[in-house]
Amino acid sequence: MARFPLIAGNWKMHKTVTETLNYIHRFRELVAGIEDREIMIAPPFTALYLAGRELAGTGIRLGAQNAHWAEQGAFTGEISPVMLKECGVTYVIIGHSERRNVFGENDEMIRKRLEGVLKAGLRPILCVGERLEEREAGRTFEVLERQIREALSGFAPGDLGELVIAYEPVWAIGTGRTATPEQAEEAHRYVRGLLGELFGDDFAEKIRILYGGSVKPENIAQLMARPDVDGALVGGASLDPETFSRIVKYETL
Ligand code: 13P
Repeated sequence: MARFPLIAGNWKMHKTVTETLNYIHRFRELVAGIEDREIMIAPPFTALYLAGRELAGTGIRLGAQNAHWAEQGAFTGEISPVMLKECGVTYVIIGHSERRNVFGENDEMIRKRLEGVLKAGLRPILCVGERLEEREAGRTFEVLERQIREALSGFAPGDLGELVIAYEPVWAIGTGRTATPEQAEEAHRYVRGLLGELFGDDFAEKIRILYGGSVKPENIAQLMARPDVDGALVGGASLDPETFSRIVKYETL
């Protein structure tokens, strides 16, 4: 079954409001007319509102890099899904390895954040992936299984229709060391099999699984050629509009 590709840029903690607007003005020209795949950028929270206004009518989706589970409350420093929705956000990245490993988010918090995002009618991009020592110890599938089972526990397949999963091996993030297309496909196939076990094969066949970790114009085409790779979550290489537009077009240099 054909899944509609999603090429997403996670800007992490990069770009001021002014820099975001300059980027969008250039980027929307570079990707104008592309209709056979979905494109998303996730700027920092501070730039979301104006970015949403600049992207309106372009077909480029707006993403956020995290969201709290509650609609409002005494949660200093957090942002709620309702607030994101008002800014024009469609996708929310949840459980990124930097949230897990630098800010101590655990599987239960990630499950709750996912629930809050779905409740607001937004689409979660759930990030999973093993660390280098886990891969070297042959524990990759075990880690993926735990992360997915716990994040998705208690949901019915009907609640999760808009779910996207991003496989991001931690050892490939920001290191220049991309997983080979074979390694990506192997992990994606495992994740799809697990989704089938949990929610049925029809559900698993519909869910898009993105690859993330040192995606560049040089490797996007090979990754996208794999049957279970349905898109990419791009960090560093999404910060330059020219480079990211080449990734969107699978233009190997
Ligand atoms: P890089 O593309 O910079 O390796 O980052 C990947 C990532 O973490 C995207 O969420």
